[in-house]
Amino acid sequence: MTDYTAAIITKLKSKEAIIGIVGLGYVGLPLMLRYNSIGYRVLGIDIDTDKVGKLNAGLSYIEHIHADKIAAACESGFEATTDFRRASECDALILCVPTPLNKYREPDMSFVINTTDAIKPYLRAGQAVSLESTTYPGTTEEELLPRVQEGGLVVGEDIFLVYSPEREDPGNPNFETRTIPKVIGGHTLACLEVGIALYEQAIDQVVPVSSTKAAEMTKLLENIHRAVNIGLVNEMKIVADRMGIDIFEVVDAAATKPFGFTAYYPGPGLGGHCIPIDPFYLTWKAREYGLHTRFIELSGEVNRAMPEYVLNKLMDGLNDSGKALKGSRILVLGIAYKKNVDDMRESPSVEIMELIEAKGGIVAYSDPHVPVFPKMREHHFELNSEALTADNLARFDAVVLATDHDKFDYELIAQHARLIVDSRGKYRTPAEHIIKA
Ligand SMILES: NC(=O)c1ccc[n+]([C@@H]2O[C@H](COP(=O)([O-])OP(=O)(O)OC[C@H]3O[C@@H](n4cnc5c(N)ncnc54)[C@H](O)[C@@H]3O)[C@@H](O)[C@H]2O)c1
Repeated sequence: MTDYTAAIITKLKSKEAIIGIVGLGYVGLPLMLRYNSIGYRVLGIDIDTDKVGKLNAGLSYIEHIHADKIAAACESGFEATTDFRRASECDALILCVPTPLNKYREPDMSFVINTTDAIKPYLRAGQAVSLESTTYPGTTEEELLPRVQEGGLVVGEDIFLVYSPEREDPGNPNFETRTIPKVIGGHTLACLEVGIALYEQAIDQVVPVSSTKAAEMTKLLENIHRAVNIGLVNEMKIVADRMGIDIFEVVDAAATKPFGFTAYYPGPGLGGHCIPIDPFYLTWKAREYGLHTRFIELSGEVNRAMPEYVLNKLMDGLNDSGKALKGSRILVLGIAYKKNVDDMRESPSVEIMELIEAKGGIVAYSDPHVPVFPKMREHHFELNSEALTADNLARFDAVVLATDHDKFDYELIAQHARLIVDSRGKYRTPAEHIIKA
């Protein structure tokens, strides 16, 4: 063990270490709060001046993270900055930046690379660098390692390189940062030891694995497992529907099996920053090894077809009452990608809205978590959330339940909507005006 290894471990364990969180979004912000709450000094670094300004003013920009928590963190020493020179003050730098796909559905590593390049001049001996962004196996070794070593620092001796994937589940009240076990891979054994010292203070259970690659692959396996099983149950939904069977009843019944079955529920398609995207990081990397990831491609195909399936169900329902979608007024309920959050990234609801509009339908939405349709790179709707009142519901030819927020009054909707297209299995009792989709 080098002097630097022992020194950083001691500093981390005694909480004298300064923790730098780079990228203050859905992942970085809860992590910042956790380290702050257990007594570390935390410095947040982000390129977004607006976010940095809000945080320093004690405000939040994520609905489920309350401003009073940010304000309390600021009072106990948290500070946000856009000045990357301050990375040198930090003993540990945890990178939580986006890893999207580009328009060719290939990994867009620009955020990870830009961030690493931005902190690179300020790295020094005795620091730990941990990447948390979801990515393909090999990223830490191929992209971070050479950059971190560029100035002459030796990883494993002077500076410590770790990959530890984030497992945040926004809006899930049953888990918090502390209680979600954390997988850690180090570039060397010393890196792993430093990684454990970094995370075991903040997280109840750390799960060391043998390499950064194994940790990267673990995260992908978790998300691919979800994408594939959601694809499977979406396909089962289509078959069950044609056979006159309620898939939700079937999944609930199957879930009583105490072993060997995990319940996944069908829906209008995949959404969020992770499940529709991450599996394709592996698809891309596997090509380098001459391999084809068939399960990933197939589930992607099934899941991507779901908004169109919902649209067809809507058109069938309107048709039954002699109406065309063209000119009909349609209210989409829930435009966040999953229940009880305000995150709209990759939301299938937005695709459904676009499909309705493309067919000449007049689309509106209601979402208690998204009062105004936000500016999005690829989607444009000048809309505000509709109030869910009896009169308002009755004005629409149909409502499409896309995201089943707990805040919706489902009884009111059932009573006053003329036609309900339910993609979430919320209405189990058959009714003439309710269609499962
Ligand atoms: N959101 C989730 O539920 C979740 C769960 C698990 C894993 N992840 C993974 O975590 C990573 C981050 O996701 P997120 O949802 O927090 O993203 P986000 O978009 O909410 O936040 C990312 C932050 O990074 C900042 N940023 C961008 N480029 C930067 C740079 N060069 N330097 C510093 N900051 C920069 C952005 O301004 C933003 O504040 C992704 O790899 C994602 O796949 C996300």
